[in-house]
Amino acid sequence: MKTPPQLQVLIDDGVIDEVLRPLKSGKEAAVYVVRSGDEIRCAKVYKDMAQRSFQQRVQYQEGRKVRGSREARAIGKASKYGRRQQEAAWKNTEVDALYQLRGAGVRVPEPFGYFHGVLVMELVTDAEGFSAARLGEVELDAAQARRFHAVLVQQVKLMLCCGLIHGDLSPYNVLVGPDGPVVIDFPQVVSAGGNNAARAMLLRDVNNLTAWLGRSAPELFDTWYGEEMWELFQAGDLQPDSALTGEFTPDLRAVDLDGVREAINDAREEALIRQQGREAAEEDY
Ligand SMILES: Nc1ncnc2c1ncn2[C@@H]1O[C@H](COP(=O)(O)OP(=O)(O)OP(=O)(O)O)[C@@H](O)[C@H]1O
Ligand SMILES: [Mg+2]
Repeated sequence: MKTPPQLQVLIDDGVIDEVLRPLKSGKEAAVYVVRSGDEIRCAKVYKDMAQRSFQQRVQYQEGRKVRGSREARAIGKASKYGRRQQEAAWKNTEVDALYQLRGAGVRVPEPFGYFHGVLVMELVTDAEGFSAARLGEVELDAAQARRFHAVLVQQVKLMLCCGLIHGDLSPYNVLVGPDGPVVIDFPQVVSAGGNNAARAMLLRDVNNLTAWLGRSAPELFDTWYGEEMWELFQAGDLQPDSALTGEFTPDLRAVDLDGVREAINDAREEALIRQQGREAAEEDY
């Protein structure tokens, strides 16, 4: 295949040796299968900032630290320098998150570095060595769905122990590897402590997984892991080995039922829009 220019620089620098094939092109990035020496890896090339929703960025970046006051000021003023820095900050977020989460034992692809705006990481494969399917593309039986749900809740919990919330967790950002689910796609990762929408995002992440896996194992619909772990986290009691039950008794005095209903409808609508975007991107591709 013809080497895309963003990857040619990595070949010139000796980071990778060859681009084997395109893997997937989504809204935000194009992912390629590449070879580095004897290793087959993948390279995620980020698309232009202009193509991403500004609104979303504002919500996600709240609470995220930017190093250096010049950078913070530049991002504040929408100068050309500021735009460049903001773009770099966005891209680095995913790389930083992968290193941090991998170090904490979360099931994410192993990162191999960030070069010229390209993330090189482990290619997640299935048992036959083909690039792994996404969770949203496979049919699971009830026992598998329950097992996957338990593993994924554990990953969300470990992330929260690192102070991070995925923010866009869905069956399309989970790959099915030979040892079970692997979580991908972190550019929008949210700081759990410094973001007003953190709880809502955590609940949405968990609900997206439960909604999908509950189709195969309906008893999952009756679990409340997100609520449970958030309460522990807020109390400062969440640990990587905290046992979760999935049971949760909401404080009924504080429940805002209209708000809950609205949030669920928003999440459904957003999932639909995402799905349509994905289908449109796949058609273009
Ligand atoms: N480490 C990996 N191993 C195998 N496949 C991967 C890996 N990373 C990404 N992919 C594939 O590339 C697709 C796009 O990657 P990713 O979700 O990170 O980017 P994106 O542009 O945000 O995509 P989308 O907008 O569809 O969510 C994934 O759905 C998956 O199929
Ligand atoms: Mg994705």
